[in-house]
Formats: sequence, C-alpha cells, structure tokens
Amino acid sequence: MTTPMPTTDADQHAWRPRYHFSPKRHWMNDPNGLVHFDGEYHLYYQYNPQGDDWGNISWGHAVSTDLTHWQELPVAIPATDRLMAFSGSIVVDHANRGGFAPAGATVPALVAFFTGFDPGTKIQSQHLAFSLDRGRTFTPYAGNPVLDIGSTEFRDPKVFWHEPTQRFVMLVVVALEQQVWFYTSRNLVEWTRVSTFGPAGSADGNIWEVPELFALSVDDDPTRKRWVLIVSVNHGSLWGGSGVQYFIGDFDGTRFVADDAQPPTLWADHGRDFYAPIMFANMPDERVLWLGWCSNWEYARELPTQPWRGQQSAPRELSLVTTPRGLRLRQRMAAEMKALVGPEPLFTARENSAHMTAASLAQAGIQGRQLMVRLRALRAGLDSPIGLELLKGAGESVKVGFDPERNSFFINRSCAAPRFKGQSERHDAQRLSNANEIEIEAWIDGSLIEVLADGGSVALTDLVYARPDASCLGLFHGAAATVSLLEVHAMQATLCSPDGLQVEARHL
Ligand code: FRU
Repeated sequence: MTTPMPTTDADQHAWRPRYHFSPKRHWMNDPNGLVHFDGEYHLYYQYNPQGDDWGNISWGHAVSTDLTHWQELPVAIPATDRLMAFSGSIVVDHANRGGFAPAGATVPALVAFFTGFDPGTKIQSQHLAFSLDRGRTFTPYAGNPVLDIGSTEFRDPKVFWHEPTQRFVMLVVVALEQQVWFYTSRNLVEWTRVSTFGPAGSADGNIWEVPELFALSVDDDPTRKRWVLIVSVNHGSLWGGSGVQYFIGDFDGTRFVADDAQPPTLWADHGRDFYAPIMFANMPDERVLWLGWCSNWEYARELPTQPWRGQQSAPRELSLVTTPRGLRLRQRMAAEMKALVGPEPLFTARENSAHMTAASLAQAGIQGRQLMVRLRALRAGLDSPIGLELLKGAGESVKVGFDPERNSFFINRSCAAPRFKGQSERHDAQRLSNANEIEIEAWIDGSLIEVLADGGSVALTDLVYARPDASCLGLFHGAAATVSLLEVHAMQATLCSPDGLQVEARHL
C-alpha cells in the first residue's frame, strides 16, 4: 500500500459526497442485505467499525424512508474475534417458514444470509441471523453455518423466494472456479444444491463475487420479463480491477440458462468505480432498484479520504432495453432522486450552437460539486468530441462526453491531478442507440461522478479527487456542434449523521 498523500480539511470537505451515502467515519465496501420493510429502506454494508482500512468486517447499517436521506444506525451484525460477516442478502420471511418469529407474532422476521469468514482457518461458510426488531439487531441462528463446503472461496449468498416453485433459492459464488452454485430450500435452514452456472463471460484470470439474480421487464412492458444474472468480477474487468458482468437468460427456479445470442461479456457499468451492486428486496412496488459500492479493489485502500473511506452509488432503477446491438441492461436514476434536483435550473440553453452555449455557460460562471447536468446534442454533423468539463479549476477538469469517431461515451479523469493509482485514465462505453440526439446525464457529488447516457443504456461511474477550488463547469466541443439542451441543476445535500446533523457541520 502506498503512503496516503497529505490532504487538507478543504480537500476532505470538497470530496465528501453529500447526496450519496458514505459512513460518518471508517471503511465501507459492498452494500449488503438491501431490503424495504415497513416503510423503511435498509442499507447494510461491509464496514470496519474500528478503522479506515478493510478489517473487522461487520454489517454497518443505515436506514431511509425515501431512498435519499440516510440515517446511520449502530452496527447490525458485528464481527467477532472468530467470525467476520462478509457480504450477503436479506429475505423477509412473511410466512414464517424458517420459524424464527415467535408463534402469533404479527411482525415477520428479516432473515440475513451472510458469509461467515473465520480469520483463523480462512474458511468461508454461509450463516444466517434473524431480526425481530425491524432490522436493528440480529440473532445468529444456533445451527450456523447453514452451508459449509470447507472452502476458503465460497461466499456472498443471495437468497430470495421463488413463487412458482414455492421454494427459497440461494446463489453463492465459488469464487476461483468462476461459478455460481444454486441451492433451494423450503425452510431457510436446509439447503439442497440444484445447479451450477459458469465459468462464462470474461475469463481474464478473475474471481467471481456477489451474485445477484432478478427478472426485469423488456422495453417497459411489464408482461415481457427476462432474467438477469449479475456477477461482480475482480482483477479482470473491463479496465482491470473490479467490474460487474451480467448475463440475460431464463431461470426456472432451479437453473439459470444464458441466451446464446449475447456477446460473451456484457458490463453493467463502463467506469471503474461501480462494484458488488445488489437490489432492494421486498419492494412495495414492481421496480427493481439497485446500488453499488463506488470503488475498485485495485485502489480502494488508497483512496485519499478521511475520516471515511467508501461511498455507495445512488439507487438506480433497472430494466432491459432493445438496442440495435441486442437486449441490454438499462439504468435510470430512481425516481426518488428527482426530489433532490433543484426545481429551477441554474442554467438552461436550448437549440443553439455549441459555441454560443459554451460562451453563455462560461458567463454564467456556475460552480458546484453537487450538480446534475443534462446535455443533449445532435449526432449528425458532430465532427469531434462534445461534452462537459466538470470539477474544473486551474489546469484541471474531468471530461464527460461523446466521441463521434469512436461512437462512444466517455469519462476522462486523466485531466485532473492524479491522487491515487488508476486515476490517469479515460473510460469509454460504446454507444448502443442510433437516435438523432446523444444524451448525457451527469450526477456529480464531491468526488463521485455517475453518468447515465442515452436514457440509461450506458452507465459510467468514476471517482475523481479534484482540488477543492476546482468546481467550475464548462462545455467542450468541436466547430460544428449543435446543442439541443443544456440544463444544470443544483443537488440538495441529504446525508445525516446518527444525531441528524449534516455530516459537514459535525466533522469537517
Ligand atoms: C466483494 C467482496 C465479497 C466479500 C466482501 C468482503 O467486494 O470481496 O466477495 O464478501 O467483499 O468484504
């Protein structure tokens, strides 16, 4: 590990996300056990309650009633000397099939499945713990582990109820084999292995982690659904390091079969900093929402932030969309995020030359690190890249744009001064649409940039640690570009510490 570079309070103040969740202090990685229950959304996460590096891994906990304001609560599943609590999922046992709720109880048990990691033997096995107090505290099941194959690479259980077969299903990765093992159960404690998926897709010397499986509607038609299997892969992803692969196919309650007609590897996000995403279980509506850890194992331990290290993406709504290249995952910001978007744009330009638009944007002198920017431009006639200069300051900026020559959207963070390994890069994502207008939606929050392009058929997520005074916004373009729309909104800060105070007021 490299020595962290010296930073100032002003740096930390500038880098702290304000409308994405980051813990008040200390290390965080994957989201765990995302679940909606009794009017609350629960965000558990891999957490070190004692330090800024990975270790003592427990399930940290935050709760929200609206998916945007997160309240940090005490650790929900603490590590012990003999067992860390690695990633997993939660199922609401409405019919009390596991028998964890007392007879006659009106509130169902939330049943958490996680990988118990024994730091002595390094064995990873699947454990269960249940909560009878709305997800605040969890009691370990006396018969743990519920699954143990004596492996040191067997983890990240995803459990859900499969209505047609009237069984619970569990997916677990056998990481080095690049496999997902499927199990089924009727009572949550006895599990039978029923099938295997993988290796498949990118085989670049990687390991598989955090499997996820859900059915998504196609082209917003709720009667047309396909299953999507998600696998987070480490070391061998698109740009090296961690990334998220997906497979579209069918699932019958026992076996997942991927369609033949898809390219060998499909990536959910084409940036560097979106990993281990999982969906919210037990949603009050039909939506599939997920969020992921915005970091990358290649440099997660070197990120220059303190007193926290780790941030989650915003919740994104998932669906499938038919594109000229085939069926693809689409990610749109969860509708709840709109509540944080300032009602009056800070800047609007319509139907104008890029040249004129750039000049009036420069004149407006907009500054900010919590912004949502929407850019639409005509594809025809574009002879050179067009896009946004974000977090712009003396000699540095981050470019988010569209490159007509490569027909790709990109984030280029190499123009910001590098503050950790891997920052000097440009990340491209092939455009999938043939529409006349290219569309870029950029959500900026301190050190985090989420780009959803062309209605969400392309996603790019990257971290950038720009200087505190680098907070201007610009437009770059070639000679002949026409901007159909440029709209800049301020985003409202939401992050609360456990006592309800804004993080910045208390800690910076
Ligand atoms: C993914 C991961 C999981 C594991 C957890 C440990 O980022 O490596 O496979 O359960 O993190 O914190």
